[in-house]
Amino acid sequence: MARKIDELLQFDRKHIWHPYTSIDSPLGVYLVDSAQGVRLRLQDGRELIDGMASWWSVIHGYNNSHLTLALQQQAERLAHVMFGGLTHEPAIRLAKLLIDITPEGLNRVFFCDSGSVAVEVAMKMAIQCSYAQGHTGKNKFLTIRSGYHGDTFHAMSVCDPVTGMHQLYQGILPQYLFADKPNCLFTDEWDETDIESLKHLLEANHQSICAVILEPIVQGAGGMHFYHPRYLRRVRELCDRYQVLLIADEIATGFGRSGRLFACEHARITPDILCLGKALTGGYMTLAAVLATAEVGHVISRGQPGVFMHGPTFMANPLACSVALRSVELLIETDWRSNVLRIEEQLTKGLIPCREISGVKDVRILGAIGVVELERPVNMARIQQRFVDNGVWVRPFGPLVYIMPPYVINDDDLQTLTGAVCRVVEAELSQ
Ligand SMILES: Cc1ncc(COP(=O)(O)O)c(C=O)c1O
Repeated sequence: MARKIDELLQFDRKHIWHPYTSIDSPLGVYLVDSAQGVRLRLQDGRELIDGMASWWSVIHGYNNSHLTLALQQQAERLAHVMFGGLTHEPAIRLAKLLIDITPEGLNRVFFCDSGSVAVEVAMKMAIQCSYAQGHTGKNKFLTIRSGYHGDTFHAMSVCDPVTGMHQLYQGILPQYLFADKPNCLFTDEWDETDIESLKHLLEANHQSICAVILEPIVQGAGGMHFYHPRYLRRVRELCDRYQVLLIADEIATGFGRSGRLFACEHARITPDILCLGKALTGGYMTLAAVLATAEVGHVISRGQPGVFMHGPTFMANPLACSVALRSVELLIETDWRSNVLRIEEQLTKGLIPCREISGVKDVRILGAIGVVELERPVNMARIQQRFVDNGVWVRPFGPLVYIMPPYVINDDDLQTLTGAVCRVVEAELSQ
């Protein structure tokens, strides 16, 4: 067995690119054999409590019997069929459910393959909306620093210019407008000056801006900041005033993670276009959805060429739609809100002690997201090994050690997870 594991890992090391790694000198990876609930089982028999929900997606835990069954039943019926000229019940029922649970007014649905593609689709919708109204020069985007929207080109163009490596792709990425990142935090008293930067940019450039795009309330991979709901309200008001669309990227926050079903609810706003992904399928398959208002749909359809110009091969894949439908049903059938609140309380209890560790800059918690920000970036290889040695799966980036476990995690496992974070952070910072 040890030999087989070695061979597999050696092949992987030599031939397979992992996210953001060098192919010549990659960091080590761990071979996962199976997973159940909140536990990842490595091929060598070790078990790790998962603190990442596979990057926000596995909200109901791994190998959830309801989701597995939905997938199996759908596979026996219809695994895939093209969406051009054909449709199917899983897509229709999922669209209906998404319309029911997302902020009022979003009732036109476009299914696509992944979060980044959803962002591309949303941006194309905004551009087509402008062009359909004859505003050919109104095709720029305004966003906020510290954002993250994915790794495809247009998505990258609205990621934070520093962490999104705009320098590297100079001359290729479109140049868009960046307002300062919101400084007023979720729990701070609202400070009206926080919106000034975005307000000035909109005032000065609204004639060339088709949409503002942002992550509502939680800026994820761009820095794990939680900003004030009033900021989002102001953005909505300004977009209305200047007739600019608002695209809310809820790919990370959607489906309860921030303590509301959708983070836009913290500010009681409806965006014109909403991007969903990640937890949509409970982490079983890749699928994303872009919801738009009827107005956006009408404007695009009345303009040239009268259609929305996008149509991926695996659009609305029936397997993905079925498992997504079951996942969303499962979420809303349960008392997810109290559960996320329970996790928030446990994360607070378990992580706040990290504030006492020298070298910890900040500890913040919102919903089922816990962040320990250090004063310097971690040594990835070393800290990863330490987490595994402590029986947990946590994958920091830069100076951010953060956890967002599957919602099914119980208090004991959560305590083990937060305890490990405190211990490992302390060990890392004493190095
Ligand atoms: C807010 C946000 N938007 C878009 C994406 C891109 O999604 P995907 O990785 O599925 O392409 C991510 C991924 O982390 C994200 O957090």
